[in-house]
Amino acid sequence: MAQYARGSAVAVIRLRNPPVNALSRAVLQALEDGLKKADADPSVKAVMICGENGKFSAGADIRGFSAPKRLGGALGPVVSLIESSEKPVVAAIEGVALGGGLEVALGCHYRIAHVKARMGLPEVTLGLLPGAEGTQRLPRLIGVPAALDMITTGKHIPATEALKLGLVDEIVEENTIEAAIRLANKVIGQPLGPRRLSLKPVPKVPNMEAFLDEALAKVKRQARGCLAPELCFQAVRAATQSPFADGVRRERELFQVLLSSGQAQALQYAFFAERAVRRWATPGGASWSSAAPQPVRRAAVIGLGTMGRGIVTSLVKANIPLVALEQDLENLNKGRKAVMFLLEREAMKMEGGAQVLDFHNPARLQFTVDFDLLRDVDLVIEAVFENMALKKEIFHKLSKICKPGALLCTNTSALNIDEIASATNRPQQVIGTHFFSPAHVMRLLEIIYGRHTSPTAIATAMQLATALKKVGVVVGNCFGFVGNRMMFPYVQQAVFLLEEGSRPDAVDQALEDFGFKIGPFRMSDLAGLDVGWRSRKDQGLTGPSLPAGTPARQRRGQRYSPLPDLLCEHGRFGQKTGKGWYLYEKAGGRTATPDPWLLNFLSQYRDTHGIQTRFIDQEEILERCLFSLINEGFAILAEGIASGPEHLDVIYINGYGWPKHRGGPMFYASTVGLPRVLAKLQKYSEAHPDVPGLQPSAFLKKLAAVGNPPLKEWMSYLSQQSSKL
Ligand code: CAA
Ligand code: NAI
Repeated sequence: MAQYARGSAVAVIRLRNPPVNALSRAVLQALEDGLKKADADPSVKAVMICGENGKFSAGADIRGFSAPKRLGGALGPVVSLIESSEKPVVAAIEGVALGGGLEVALGCHYRIAHVKARMGLPEVTLGLLPGAEGTQRLPRLIGVPAALDMITTGKHIPATEALKLGLVDEIVEENTIEAAIRLANKVIGQPLGPRRLSLKPVPKVPNMEAFLDEALAKVKRQARGCLAPELCFQAVRAATQSPFADGVRRERELFQVLLSSGQAQALQYAFFAERAVRRWATPGGASWSSAAPQPVRRAAVIGLGTMGRGIVTSLVKANIPLVALEQDLENLNKGRKAVMFLLEREAMKMEGGAQVLDFHNPARLQFTVDFDLLRDVDLVIEAVFENMALKKEIFHKLSKICKPGALLCTNTSALNIDEIASATNRPQQVIGTHFFSPAHVMRLLEIIYGRHTSPTAIATAMQLATALKKVGVVVGNCFGFVGNRMMFPYVQQAVFLLEEGSRPDAVDQALEDFGFKIGPFRMSDLAGLDVGWRSRKDQGLTGPSLPAGTPARQRRGQRYSPLPDLLCEHGRFGQKTGKGWYLYEKAGGRTATPDPWLLNFLSQYRDTHGIQTRFIDQEEILERCLFSLINEGFAILAEGIASGPEHLDVIYINGYGWPKHRGGPMFYASTVGLPRVLAKLQKYSEAHPDVPGLQPSAFLKKLAAVGNPPLKEWMSYLSQQSSKL
């Protein structure tokens, strides 16, 4: 609702719809009623619009987009009504003014903001564009380059930047409402024409067409198949080409195109999925609603390799004092240098920089090789080599040294949390915190509870994720957890496709065209082929422990491809050695080019093993890689390793570069239709009966058999025990 009140000459309209004053139909109606009341009351000389509870408005009610009588064009006319008011209207922006919320403020004649407020037009992130005339007003106010940047990226900008851009007229450090009323009183009687943005011309940019062409190329490059950024661009371009009313018409047309696109639904699903995973629960009955986190005043990170460096950086950025520990001075110095380099770079991006991060202060960041310094920390994150014996040794030591309440976390990417916990005297405080590389950049934190992990430990890890500005997703313990477990069959299929006749660049291209940031072979070259090789040797799948006489392309009765092992045996570890699935300009180089050596090697390999080369089209590449990954997802859900499909989707979007506009693998499966996914898996598993990853999971079969229910109902089809999650 919006509350109307009149004090002296200024009427106050307060948007009220907790928690973020979203502009529901009821709020819009009340806003319109308030404006009409103020207009009709001769004693009212000006109007001030603000939001309840220190927030202006987070925009249209996102849930309303899928409602049968959706909000759609309802907001634009209200914004026009505000602008056409004959009495000055001032927006008092506190907290957030986002999307439709900012569009309301753009309809006002004056905008005043609290210094801590944030503003933005994030519709693009929901697969939409600002559909209440925002694409036409904003460029008129702050110019085309700045407006394009805000509208096509959806970024939130702080009030200080908004002031510099001219988006707000004034910022205040306190009492925004009083300041807005003062401003409203001051401007009573002043001409409103120059304050009506729809009447202003769009400021000229030298060489506008060339500028726009370049901007469009950039938008397309970054969108990677997502429609909304390009349509946002087109709406702003219309503002540069047509009068306001025509621009608004174009904006509406483009909005309708996006609204009915599957991408908008996927992105809105992703928005709510990210919020849903905060409400974690375990099959044992622990949940977010009853578990309380314990404070983390001081932390420690063990191992300053690829992951430890990023984790330290992340903790420093979150203002958590910490100790960083290495095994010897040589590695410590190497790690310290790398951490300092990352922190200097981060500091350069921040206002206040190194001073705010304060990482030269040993009280905040201490480097050591001495385990004794971990005595009083509240939480330790172990990031040493992926080796069970080493991890157990470290956890045993930690449980002796650390204070009783300290939480012991491991960054293992696949190992058994229970086995690691068994080396301690406090398995209830052992938990997996699986960061993704680079750890100071990637948003995902996969949080893995073991058999004995306490609810407090889970709540503390979730709180850590929030403090690090990451998305924490709580999952159960199994080899590879959720993310990597689903990745195994995907990568396996990619390699099988090479055996059968495809090429690394063809497979990568198909998946990158689908929207992945990076295909599986480019990814493997980036991460290093030796990592998986070591793990396969540890598992006895290759190397000296492999029993003599093991067939080259079979392990434990299943199809196996030795191709990645063979590449490693040829010293091809990926980017770090300058060659892997691709060739690079030098060791450590980043420009991948198809390597004739590899293509020749593949063809010899096929000859050796009597494999007939065939052409594999894009459809088969996508189906075999994606459907096998999705199939594993259904198995994970059936086993109760994750509480729901949203968890898998949030993991894939934030940790594995899955295109967000496709909503995550499980949402994607729901859009393809489960019967179709099932039929394709059946077809491929008949052709490859020795590949278990292609055999449809029982849960997928069940869902297809009960008539392909909507994703939100899937979990209700599981047995009682799993659906308790
Ligand atoms: N509509 C409906 N619900 C919303 C909402 C919106 N616009 N914005 C937030 N919420 C809900 C969230 O789902 C969440 O609900 P639950 O507690 O039930 O999970 C609750 O409000 C609080 O949100 P957050 O947990 O995200 O709180 P936060 O403090 O971390 O972030 C925020 C607050 C920055 C406003 C963030 O919620 C956000 O970015 N919201 C979306 C803003 C947005 O995209 N607005 C554009 C809408 S589209 C539009 O306006 C279109 C148009 O022109 C036609
Ligand atoms: P890394 O090899 O780059 O670094 C490991 C570091 O641990 C080295 O600096 C080493 O000196 C140090 N170390 C070894 N023994 C130690 C000891 N006893 N005490 C203190 N330090 C010791 O390894 P990386 O890649 O950082 O991996 C670390 C962990 O993170 C592994 O468990 C790995 O599986 C996991 N992981 C790795 C990811 C990646 O992309 N590299 C992604 C997610 C998880």
